[in-house]
Amino acid sequence: MRIEENYSLLAYNTFHLPVKARWFMEYGNEEELGRIVRDEYFQECISLHIGCGSNLLFINDYRGIILHSQIKGIQLMEENEDTVLLRIGAAEIWDDVVACAVSKGWGGIENLSNIPGEAGAAAIQNIGAYGVEIKDVIESVEAYNQLSFEKRTFTKEECQYGYRYSFFKDEHNEPHIVTHILIRLNKKPVYVLQYGKLKKTLAGYPAITLAHIREAVMAIRKEKLPDPGIIGNAGSFFTNPFITEQHFNGLRVQYPGMPYYPASDNQVKIPAAWLIEQCGFKGKSHGQVGVYPKHALVITNLGGANGHEIALVAESIRSAVRERFDIELTPEVKYID
Ligand code: EPU
Repeated sequence: MRIEENYSLLAYNTFHLPVKARWFMEYGNEEELGRIVRDEYFQECISLHIGCGSNLLFINDYRGIILHSQIKGIQLMEENEDTVLLRIGAAEIWDDVVACAVSKGWGGIENLSNIPGEAGAAAIQNIGAYGVEIKDVIESVEAYNQLSFEKRTFTKEECQYGYRYSFFKDEHNEPHIVTHILIRLNKKPVYVLQYGKLKKTLAGYPAITLAHIREAVMAIRKEKLPDPGIIGNAGSFFTNPFITEQHFNGLRVQYPGMPYYPASDNQVKIPAAWLIEQCGFKGKSHGQVGVYPKHALVITNLGGANGHEIALVAESIRSAVRERFDIELTPEVKYID
């Protein structure tokens, strides 16, 4: 177990904000986690469990305890003719899991290549890209209830997955700490290629294989999204909003070229990037905060910005989109005050 006081979180947030945590605690196994969460001082403090911080915006220094897992490992739990079941430690780097699966010829997560973050956080957020969400392969999630200290295995249904949503994200539910995720992958992969650009990129390869899909996804991401190792950012800053069909039909008269994806319950999903670009933010900057020139959904720290300044730019984007389209954008990034 590692305990640090007034600890820099610079390496633990992909916006590269030089914030500090009053306490930083890192545990290597479930027994150590149990000791931390049962501790009286811990229970009195505010706390936040983080992964790589690839979806966090620290507005200030954190006054409580930052918890970080070091539970790693990719265990083969079951194998049959068609599938494998893997149990993955929450602190395993998600892209290492994808690389491992692809190298073994196990399909299901190749479209989720190169997404920053750890496996536990990936399952909590239900990460998604190029037609695949992690929920498509999740079999169950192991987690500790932070109030009762009980360990529970959540079935996929109990995780209540939705678009960038799970039981673990909902602040109305009792807080849980995810220790392991179990995913089932396919030994006879079924490729998901409906994302136009992916299909087009793959046309340049001699054959469609898991490795080629991974390569193509990485190339597409590289072309459109900034590398958080170089430019501070947290990927998509907002989720794509859902609006009613009626609202959509009204807007479409004025904006016939508006891209959209039909969704269930008479709703339509609109790409937030398009709305933001229409409002003129793409490629613009305010102080040290930029809107990425190649993708309007990504807000960047051009160097030296603080969380408050990033939040202000996000707020002006939200107001502009609200005013022009009567659509409310919801941050995908979690604000930590
Ligand atoms: N578009 C613009 N301007 C831009 C960029 C995009 O108008 O600057 C429009 C285009 O019409 C484009 C559409 O937006 O067709 C959608 O863009 P893109 O395919 O890049 O996807 P996205 O909806 O912006 C979502 C995920 C990404 C994921 C991609 C690919 C969310 C919030 N984001 O982005 O996930 O990689 O699809 O599947 O759902 C992330 O969550 O951090 C993330 C990067």
